[in-house]
Amino acid sequence: MATEQIFHIDEDVGEDSTTQTGAQDSPYKSLGYAVFTHGETAKYLTRKSKTGDIPEGSDESARLEWKPAAKAAMKKAVNYAKQQQKKAGREKELLALRQKEDEDRKKVLDEAKKIVIEEDLSLPKADKIKLDEADPAKIKLGNGSDVKGTRVRVFGRVHRERRQKDVMFITLRDGYGFMQVIFTGPLAKCYDALTLTRETSMEITGELREVPSGAHAPLGRELHADYFKIHAGWKAAGGDDAITNRVSKDTEHATLLDLRHLTLRGETASKVMLVRDAVEHAFNLVFKELRMRKVSPPALVQTQVEGGATLFKFQYYNEEAYLTQSSQLYLETCLPSMGDVYCIEKSFRAEKSLTRRHLAEYTHIEGELDFITFDDLLTHLEQLMCRVLEVTMSDPVVKQYILDLNPEFKMPERPFKRMKYSDAIDWLVEHDIPNEDGEKHKFGDDIAEAAERRMTDIINRPIFLTHFPTEIKAFYMQKDKEDPRVTESVDCLMPGVGEIIGGSMRMYDYEELMAAFQREGIDPAAYYWYTDQRKYGSSPHGGYGLGLERFLAWLCKQHTVRDCCLYPRYFGRCKP
Ligand code: 4AD
Repeated sequence: MATEQIFHIDEDVGEDSTTQTGAQDSPYKSLGYAVFTHGETAKYLTRKSKTGDIPEGSDESARLEWKPAAKAAMKKAVNYAKQQQKKAGREKELLALRQKEDEDRKKVLDEAKKIVIEEDLSLPKADKIKLDEADPAKIKLGNGSDVKGTRVRVFGRVHRERRQKDVMFITLRDGYGFMQVIFTGPLAKCYDALTLTRETSMEITGELREVPSGAHAPLGRELHADYFKIHAGWKAAGGDDAITNRVSKDTEHATLLDLRHLTLRGETASKVMLVRDAVEHAFNLVFKELRMRKVSPPALVQTQVEGGATLFKFQYYNEEAYLTQSSQLYLETCLPSMGDVYCIEKSFRAEKSLTRRHLAEYTHIEGELDFITFDDLLTHLEQLMCRVLEVTMSDPVVKQYILDLNPEFKMPERPFKRMKYSDAIDWLVEHDIPNEDGEKHKFGDDIAEAAERRMTDIINRPIFLTHFPTEIKAFYMQKDKEDPRVTESVDCLMPGVGEIIGGSMRMYDYEELMAAFQREGIDPAAYYWYTDQRKYGSSPHGGYGLGLERFLAWLCKQHTVRDCCLYPRYFGRCKP
């Protein structure tokens, strides 16, 4: 006669695991688990502590006797065991299914490896083109089975791919545009097509055809591929390392910045960078239209321009030096020999706060104009900005990028609103917008970033804010002859961003400038080359600096200037 099997369940000290045997000294924790493991015909003894507490050392006297499991408890345990068995069965089935899928896929891939793709050299020669090239004289689009399109050779990276039965659709990207490519027949079935990963670099030849009516593709055309090649080393990482697993819409901003080299391949980041290229080009073009000469002042300097608090200092051989905050002083020295000048250079500010419009390194577009009045300066700024926008928007591709990023973009109306600092103070008081101390704004206050942005957003058009008090502006600014409390200075404010330009007329009297150095506690000795300008033929002149990233944040409606430069540098970030 078979001996009855007995298993033990101790609700307090037992364990539901395969390391337990169910013997008295190796009990399970739950009846359900024990029944699931040993079946409902075995005998089960259960016990727990008398009080519900288990005294340290697990004193046997604190434990109840072993008792056969109650009927109701057994019924519940049998139900539980059945559910678990079903679940285990399903998991086994799923595993088997997956194994079969893996085997099937392996078979398909083994078959696919046998397909050899070779270029048919009897086909017409394929000319290499960029993905946006569309010269109708050179590129004929096939639009029916009897009309052949031009055969072309393209290179690019897989931006997206999808499969519909035996047809593969690939969106190729090369930085100039996108092209829809279609693989059919062996091309869609070969090993490289079946294992294609996003970002893989490819060489493809084929015939360019119009997309069928009702279908959409970039430039209304698609490439019907007859050959493709993934050169050794051109394949992009897949699986966990695939680009889509590293950067996506849901990735945190800090991670996106750590992976900026990959983020830049995304549509938004690349559009901003392409608009940036167009804007820089437009500035160069418009500066030339305005007969301004480009110069390239040094980045390593020994003078400050915009206050000591934001200077990056470093050891320059045996001397102290700084990274330049602005090229303005150097531009001023070029006026006598070169006329009006400009530069597009990096400026550096050791900003210690994390705001959405401050960088530690930014691109500074600066201009300096000779023999002008303050009014001339404002008119010039308006003309420069509007003309740059006009040139930028005249390229239909760039215009489309801007509208994709900023659908509500409208050209600013001229003339820009002009508002004196003292009127802005009154406006802020009227609109109950407090200063940084939470008090009513008063003459002499620095208008802080938040207040400035609120005002600009409410007025919702570009503003030239002028005539700031001497005390809150840089030492070099010319005082207003009619009101010496204020300077001939201007900030250009844009909705959504606030200040994007700072400019002024420059103090051109030698004695006055020396007094300004003294007032600010700056030793003029290091500025001998600057003050000499006032000794050797001074002139009424003025200029400005425009932060390119801020201009772009406004134009492309980006929340932060960090997304408007290639690899942003700001407090706490100096990589990648
Ligand atoms: O108003 P700022 O400090 O003016 C000057 O540096 C003048 N010396 C320029 C000149 O007259 N030649 O700076 C000018 C512009 C600001 O309006 C802003 O757009 C940008 O430079 N800017 C910054 N952009 C990003 N990050 C920062 N930390 C910036 N600081 C200034």
